Amino acid sequence: MRRLTPDAAGLDEAARLLAAGELVAFPTETVYGLGADAANPEAIAKVFLAKGRPSDHPLIVHLPDEQALSAWVEQVPENARRLIAQFWPGPLTLVLPRAATVSDRITGGQDTVAVRVPNHPVARALLRRFGGALVAPSANRFGRISPTRAEHVESEFGDEVAAVIDGGACPVGVESTIVDLSGDKPRILRPGMVRSDAIAAELEQPLCQPGDNEGPRAPGRLASHYAPEVPLEAVAADRLHQRLAELLAAGQRVVVLARFERDRSAADTALSWIRMPRQPVQHARALYAQLRHADALHPDRILVEQVPAGEGWDAVRDRLARACA
Ligand code: TXA
Ligand code: MG
Repeated sequence: MRRLTPDAAGLDEAARLLAAGELVAFPTETVYGLGADAANPEAIAKVFLAKGRPSDHPLIVHLPDEQALSAWVEQVPENARRLIAQFWPGPLTLVLPRAATVSDRITGGQDTVAVRVPNHPVARALLRRFGGALVAPSANRFGRISPTRAEHVESEFGDEVAAVIDGGACPVGVESTIVDLSGDKPRILRPGMVRSDAIAAELEQPLCQPGDNEGPRAPGRLASHYAPEVPLEAVAADRLHQRLAELLAAGQRVVVLARFERDRSAADTALSWIRMPRQPVQHARALYAQLRHADALHPDRILVEQVPAGEGWDAVRDRLARACA
């Protein structure tokens, strides 16, 4: 895999590779996406192959702007217009009734399509240069932690992926919020940093929350996902030192991710302590890189402090629950 710089030459080369049916990973504000020409069925097939993703799990179509939407959806309902006006470009994906021309390979055979306009400057510049839509799942192998840096993408894939554009660390750090607007009531399929209370306020309507078993298959909705290789356990802050003591006493090597410092009694060579940010926006930005870092230390177990209840933490809580499952 080649590493491209996000300048004119790098973006031209990326657009050329995509037009030739190759896969190019690129930064978005959320995580790195594994990009392919959304109009090229063979390129889309390569995405599923490289990720090891089951073919019935649908992809998000990334668009340069709102004007490009009409080619992909049957119509743009009023509630979608409101969310687009408020949150696009940005980390919000809409699930809408698809246009008849959209390939089953993208939608997994469903009658809806997921679309978003990212706001990362490199993603936007690439979409403009390419001049079409890109499918872009997170650039990780199926079930693994999403990449937030170009190095993460390189460690996931070999030469099945032609190139990655290095845009540094992703500012949001967890995947986009997904709202399904194709049914009677708007429904959150995946919480993200566009908060569901902000979406409900914009729609002047309560939202159905994830958790019920209805709705289309979505890998991000499988219980076990976004997972490191080492077993991960979430513990309440006030139980963390006790649980840690038990594990260390049992001879386990442990990495802790917590929003507070270790107390001095917890000094132990079998222990690494990773200090996480206290606030949700910063915590989300750091989460995947720190999980990868913890994993790479090859402990017997990763202990992570449970995050507080409350809206701002929904996305982080969701990803931690899946990583533990
Ligand atoms: O932030 C993001 O959304 C990143 C960046 C790269 O844009 N992309 C991403 O893609 O997270 P992926 O493929 O890893 O996750 C897309 C999620 C999956 O859970 C998929 O099942 C769901 O979107 N999805 C796609 N199309 C859908 C549809 N028509 N109905 C319901 N869910 C859908
Ligand atoms: Mg993913």
